[in-house]
Amino acid sequence: MPDPSTNPEPLRVVRRPSASGQDETVELHPAASVVLKEEPGTIIWRERLADGTEAVIKLYRRGLPEWWLGRLGSFRVANEFEALQKLESLGERCTRPLFWGYGNFGSHGRGELLATEWQSDCRPLDELLAAEPDVRRTLDLTPLWATIGRLHDAGFDHGTCLARNILVRGSADAPQFILLDMPRCHVFPRGIRGTRMARYDLLFMANTLRRYLPADAVPRWLTAYGMSADQQSRFAADLRGFRNSGTLRRAIGAEFNLRAWLASRARNAAHVTGRQ
Ligand SMILES: Nc1ncnc2c1ncn2[C@@H]1O[C@H](COP(=O)(O)OP(=O)(O)O)[C@@H](O)[C@H]1O
Ligand SMILES: [Mg+2]
Repeated sequence: MPDPSTNPEPLRVVRRPSASGQDETVELHPAASVVLKEEPGTIIWRERLADGTEAVIKLYRRGLPEWWLGRLGSFRVANEFEALQKLESLGERCTRPLFWGYGNFGSHGRGELLATEWQSDCRPLDELLAAEPDVRRTLDLTPLWATIGRLHDAGFDHGTCLARNILVRGSADAPQFILLDMPRCHVFPRGIRGTRMARYDLLFMANTLRRYLPADAVPRWLTAYGMSADQQSRFAADLRGFRNSGTLRRAIGAEFNLRAWLASRARNAAHVTGRQ
C-alpha cells in the first residue's frame, strides 16, 4: 500500500453541505501540501483550494465500527463544522468552517475530514506559553475568559476547552484568541452559566493554564468571565481537587450528550405545544 502522505493520487471528497444541492466533488492533494500534523489516526495539512482559499484539512481515519457509527449517527467533523458555524454566527473568532466530508479515501482508508480557513501568524496557546517565558509574564488572557463567558451565555458548551485548542495572534498586551477543535460541543437552548457543562469547560481551561502560570492569575480570569467573589472561591476549591482523566472525560461526555439530547427534546415538545 502506498504511504498516504507521499501518495501523489488526489483524494476526492463530496463536500458537505452542498451550496447547490447537487453533489460537488473536491480534489485534495495531501502529498503536495504542507503537513502540519501526522499521527496514526490523523493527518492535518495546509492546501490552497481551487478557488484560491488557503485551507487546513484535518482527516481522521476511521475503523469500520466508528465509520458506521458516524454514518448512522453523526460524524465528529459534522459536529465540529456546526459548532464553528455557530461561533461565526455569534461573531466570535474561530477557524472559519469551509466544508466537511467522509468517504473511502484510497490509501488513507475510510475517514472523515473537515476543511477550515487557514489562520496565518498564529501559535497554539499551550506551545506559546511553554516556549516563551516573557509571554508567560505578559500575555493578557482576560479576553479569552470573557469570550468563554459570552459562549456560555449563548448556551455554547465547548467540550474540549484546552489551551492547545486556542490559537493566539498579535502582541501580548492585545492578543487575538481564535477558537478551534470542538468536536464535543453542544449548543443548549438557554445560557449554561452556572451549570456543570460551564463548570467543566472552565476547569479544563484553568487546569491546562496552571501548568504554565501562577495560581494568583486565576481570580483575574474569573472576573473577566463574570464570576462573583463567592463563586470564585468555590471554583478555586473545585480547581484544587480537579484531576483530568480519560474516565472523567468519558463520563462527562456521556452525561452532557444526554443533557443536550433531553434539552433538544424539551425544546421540540415546547414548539409542538406552542403550536396547538
Ligand atoms: N485553520 C487553521 N489555521 C491554522 N492552524 C490550524 C488550523 N486548523 C488546525 N491548525 C493547526 O493544527 C493543530 C491541530 O488542529 P486541531 O483542530 O486542534 O486538531 P486535533 O483534533 O488534532 O487536535 C492546531 O493546534 C493548529 O496548530
Ligand atoms: Mg486540538
